Amino acid sequence: MLEKNNQTVYVNGEFFSKKEASISVFDRGFLFSDSVYEVTAVLDGKLVDWKEHFARLIRSLGHLNIENNFQEEDFYQIQRKLINENQLKEGLCYVQVTRGIAERDFNFAKKSLLPTVVIFTQEKQILKNAASKVGVKIITVPDDRWRRRDIKTTQLLAQSLAKTHAVQEGVDDSLLVQGGFINEGSSSNVFIFKDERIITPSLSNDILGGITRSSVIKFCQINNIEIKEQKINIDDLMNAQEVFLTSATGFVLPVIEVNGRRVGNGLVGDTVKKIQHIYVEQIKAKLF
Ligand code: PDD
Repeated sequence: MLEKNNQTVYVNGEFFSKKEASISVFDRGFLFSDSVYEVTAVLDGKLVDWKEHFARLIRSLGHLNIENNFQEEDFYQIQRKLINENQLKEGLCYVQVTRGIAERDFNFAKKSLLPTVVIFTQEKQILKNAASKVGVKIITVPDDRWRRRDIKTTQLLAQSLAKTHAVQEGVDDSLLVQGGFINEGSSSNVFIFKDERIITPSLSNDILGGITRSSVIKFCQINNIEIKEQKINIDDLMNAQEVFLTSATGFVLPVIEVNGRRVGNGLVGDTVKKIQHIYVEQIKAKLF
């Protein structure tokens, strides 16, 4: 990841340098993680699946009753301006919306607050990322998160601990497991290829409905690749011919090792290569 200090950041209607951008210490996003976010990939200086990300942002705000003052076009134009100013060709655009600023109080219902909005970009090589060619190694860990993982909140401590634990164990990431079933990755959805079909856990409160996940499902269906949404247990995972992760930050990432055991022959499989290819072709055709 490249660090740039001369980047522009949007905060509540104004543009600041990265050094000067700030929010109140009484912001409920800071005090209570009372906030939601979206991460949208940028390719060729354009947004990937922006409409779908905006729709999920509005859904997340609705679930938490955070006031929605936002029009898609306004957010889109702010992101465009940041992408241009920050000369971002490939990377990520983050939109973070908190409930706003208030005296610290668990009860937020006393008066309606003005949401805080922060938007920033980050340079990242997604397509040329080595992991997408050689694959990643993962371990399974208990899913310690709250139970509304379908809402994209900034309560990311459990995921952050799971990812850090994986790296400390010498691998790349963690898969979160609950009652013997695989939910998802620390910041990605999970798919396996077994018995000639692709399987990914069905949507529920246990997982985030990933935008990349739903594109992959759609593209598989269009291309007559059999795909099922159903629970995946540890045995299914350990005996899969192929495993892969999907997210805005990694697109389609092959997994070559789980809990110290090789997936298939330990090399990136043909099915995931095919899906990577289809995915990139299809999103490039509708950049925003
Ligand atoms: N995370 N599941 C979890 C828990 C996630 O945090 C993410 C994305 C996904 C994949 O969703 P999508 O395909 O819409 O990116 C699934 C983002 C990338 C992040 O927090 O960085």
